[in-house]
Amino acid sequence: VTRISAETIRARKGGVPIVCLTAYTYPIARLLDDHVDLLLVGDSVAMVLHGHKTTLSASLEMMISHGQAVTRGSAKACVVVDMPAGSYENSAAQAVASARRIVGETGCQAVKLEGGVDVAGQIAAIVAAGIPVMGHVGLQPQSVEKDGGYKIKGRTPENVATLIRDADAVEKAGAFSLVIEGTIESVAADLTRRIAIPTIGIGASGQCDGQILVIDDMIGLTVDRVPKFVKEYADLRSVVANAAKRYAAEVRSRTFPGPSHVFSASSDKDNV
Ligand code: KIV
Ligand code: NA
Repeated sequence: VTRISAETIRARKGGVPIVCLTAYTYPIARLLDDHVDLLLVGDSVAMVLHGHKTTLSASLEMMISHGQAVTRGSAKACVVVDMPAGSYENSAAQAVASARRIVGETGCQAVKLEGGVDVAGQIAAIVAAGIPVMGHVGLQPQSVEKDGGYKIKGRTPENVATLIRDADAVEKAGAFSLVIEGTIESVAADLTRRIAIPTIGIGASGQCDGQILVIDDMIGLTVDRVPKFVKEYADLRSVVANAAKRYAAEVRSRTFPGPSHVFSASSDKDNV
């Protein structure tokens, strides 16, 4: 199997919608690889798996560790790893060094970073170093403290102008695709028409060239409230809780382990 490259994703502008999900672990990567075009190791891992309050707690080490798990678990998907807050903002040189570490240590196909005009120099420098970059505009979770919360973007003319400038800057800097998050439908549609690289929406309507969701939200494993834009395709919360409840009851009643789970002196092989 050859992996889907960033160039292949770029070439799908305006075609069959690009299917993306986040993934953070080996088993989930194994399960998703046959069904998606792109797996994003999002810095949302800091919140989703590690229980931090915001994505600002993600570190380069955390992203690399989960990135390695996802590349080990997938063979076909284009794997993109998020650049965490603090790993690229200071300078183009810092951004290139961080991107090189991420790609070198995980084997991922591309990196993603948040921002527009403010990070265009970083995007251009990473692309010039031979590493494909995915942009991310609109709602930017790494800016949640600055923005005073997770706010929908594109509702004021000034905000629309900023989004257009940012999307243009990301495209011009050489990104192969652009995540648009938390943005009203008409603006997502305008941006998608405007730029020549695929837009990947999350809370940005069906007008984008592709869609992405956080895997735990999508399978109903998120314990806290999920945003309006999420559709839960499964209810793993109740699957896990019911399994734990039955296991607890069977251990307490000595129903588990049963005869089939027990080793005997005679007929067993040496391996468990
Ligand atoms: O970190 C993340 O999960 C993301 C996406 C949902 C786009 O950046
Ligand atoms: Na992210």
